[in-house]
Amino acid sequence: MKIVSVVGARPNFMKIAPFIKAIDAHNEKSSDKIEHVLVHTGQHYDSSLSQSFFSALNIPDADINLQIGSGTHAEQVGNTMIKFEKLLKAIKPDWVVVVGDVNATLACTVTAKKELVKVCHIEAGLRSGDMTMPEEINRLVTDRLANLLLTPDTMSSENLGKEGVDESKIKFVGNIMIDTLEANRDIAAGLSLEDILKNNAVNRVYVNPGDSYTLMTMHRPSNVDQKEVLEPLIDFLLNEVARDNPLIWPVHPRAEKQLKEFNLWNDVFEHPNVILLKPLGYHQMLKLNMGANIMLTDSGGLQEECTILGTPCLTLRWNTERPITLREFGGASVLVGNEIDKIRKAYRETLALDVKPKRPELWDGQTAERCLQAILDAENRL
Ligand code: UD1
Repeated sequence: MKIVSVVGARPNFMKIAPFIKAIDAHNEKSSDKIEHVLVHTGQHYDSSLSQSFFSALNIPDADINLQIGSGTHAEQVGNTMIKFEKLLKAIKPDWVVVVGDVNATLACTVTAKKELVKVCHIEAGLRSGDMTMPEEINRLVTDRLANLLLTPDTMSSENLGKEGVDESKIKFVGNIMIDTLEANRDIAAGLSLEDILKNNAVNRVYVNPGDSYTLMTMHRPSNVDQKEVLEPLIDFLLNEVARDNPLIWPVHPRAEKQLKEFNLWNDVFEHPNVILLKPLGYHQMLKLNMGANIMLTDSGGLQEECTILGTPCLTLRWNTERPITLREFGGASVLVGNEIDKIRKAYRETLALDVKPKRPELWDGQTAERCLQAILDAENRL
């Protein structure tokens, strides 16, 4: 069997790493070898968002990089499709495996289906219901087309059922990102906080955050692309959150660009209790998450990691495609949107809370093997 798997942007890399390991393990013990081709669309190209994850997670270099780079959504998707179509015609795989919900996921699914290649989507069935999010459109199109839909939780399987997806195409396998978390927990725990802060400093050489700090990340267009939204958020972060505890903020390139555009960068940069960092490697971020008092984030992956680690999390969004991470379902996160009064209230309440780690069903570190087995089973069936 020949499988092409696709990655494009940072959140894809931790999902593909365990899948590749599962293929290697299969090939070691089985005479029925899988030929695997790893394709990177090149949407993320900075070392800190891409290559550093390949090295840290022992992902082999991509066999092919489509070098799509930055651009509008249509440019990224269109350019990926043009290049991926040529590649599929040359390689003729049996399956294309896509993960997550980035532009590569959508572009490669559509292209593969038109080339009559079967598609497996890992992390299928997540739904925020928010059609203003590019990722929701990517999820809907991908899941409508994919032949095999591997879900991280039963709510996602139910979502697909409600949309009329045939049950034979859906398989609940668990959360593949947790395979990566479990495989790397010990390495992360062994890192030095001081080294992470020193080696990734943006605005100051080193500030000892002591033993309590707030961790935040923010990159969604809905939070960073409009001044009316970003400015009050920054005001709250600098004047309230950073007054309680040091605020550690690894800054995504999109957020940095917007802060500069709206003339907010200097205020953040110069604040004595804000520690700005470059985008962090996988282990560094995991280490900071393990020690944080509280997380403020608009990242889906971090909501999940907070749930497993028991880090109280304020999700800076009005909705989530990952309800299993919410406190009402036993998780660590609460939705606070980007309205300051709501964030403030939740922030104060959360600081006083004792959040316990939670392990949803099948978030057990063994999901990748189930994904591969599902593809092997489906090969003759679908
Ligand atoms: C993408 C994903 C999002 C994911 C996020 C994680 C889609 C639709 N969105 O959003 O789901 O949560 O990645 O990071 O696919 N840039 C760099 N260096 C790079 C890559 C990008 O500086 O290596 C800059 C770009 O020029 C652009 C900005 O970062 O200005 C945003 O990059 P883009 O790939 O368009 O989307 P993300 O916001 O990163």
